[in-house]
Amino acid sequence: MDTMTEMTPVTDATAAATAPAKKAVPDAQTVTEVRHWTDRLFSFRCTRPASLRFRSGEFVMIGLMQTDPKSGKEKPLLRAYSIASPSWDEELEFYSIKVQDGPLTSRLQHIQPGDEIVLRPKPVGTLVHDALLPGKRIWFFATGTGFAPFASLLREPQTYEDYDEVIITHTCREAAELHYGAELIEGLKTDELLNEVIGEGFWKKIKYYPTTTREESPKMGRITDLMRSGEAFRDLGVDPINPDTDRAMICGNLAFNLELKAMLEEYGLEEGANSDPKQYVVEKAFLD
Ligand code: A2P
Repeated sequence: MDTMTEMTPVTDATAAATAPAKKAVPDAQTVTEVRHWTDRLFSFRCTRPASLRFRSGEFVMIGLMQTDPKSGKEKPLLRAYSIASPSWDEELEFYSIKVQDGPLTSRLQHIQPGDEIVLRPKPVGTLVHDALLPGKRIWFFATGTGFAPFASLLREPQTYEDYDEVIITHTCREAAELHYGAELIEGLKTDELLNEVIGEGFWKKIKYYPTTTREESPKMGRITDLMRSGEAFRDLGVDPINPDTDRAMICGNLAFNLELKAMLEEYGLEEGANSDPKQYVVEKAFLD
């Protein structure tokens, strides 16, 4: 972490005592864990500012310090990242793509436990329960790293308090890109807090529908096509989407968001917002 930990080399005890303090990183948080899922995806956890309160599903700006080529000054390079951990977690988790020539993720992918990242503690976002009217069933639709806000919401007790059924669809190019989500969902079965607060077996409310588009897997195809043909509803054993009972959150790449949004509107759902809760909400997944 070149720019984050610049220190004068220390050669002996005297030098250590007089060495300048490590350069202060504004809004610094310390990385506690990093996991690499594929050569395109990784997740990491970091400390949480004591003052940070957020609603599961929201995002914050995070990044690294970089040297401004014009002024030579250090300044933060930030991007919007959905918080993948739930609001009750004492740490924060993020799930990120690695773009080899991306300004931020080309560097962020190399972080290690103990490194510092910049985190602006101002959470915002529309993928929150407050933006939806009460319903019986909630659909979480994700592609790629768009799974992140749902990783938060799937670990949030309110999700199971508010809905009888929770359906999470995740479409990725390759099977390995589903692993982060699959492991998280499997882990819910033994999640102590959720089992205690919601009741044992709460995870039976969840229907998980992972699909791939460019590599063989048990279910192939884009979720949009699988819904259009009716195959997704048949596989899940559920009725098609109905505005009286169904609520939805969408988070994926832009083309996916637009296509699914149009489909949900055809089913009769209307887009909600924090100030005007309705039947579905949408947010673009972070891309570098
Ligand atoms: P596909 O491989 O057919 O493009 P990406 O990694 O490019 O963000 O894509 C993630 C996943 O989202 C891929 O499986 C991709 O399928 C799928 N996808 C892309 N555009 C759409 C869309 N308009 N509707 C449904 N799925 C889409």
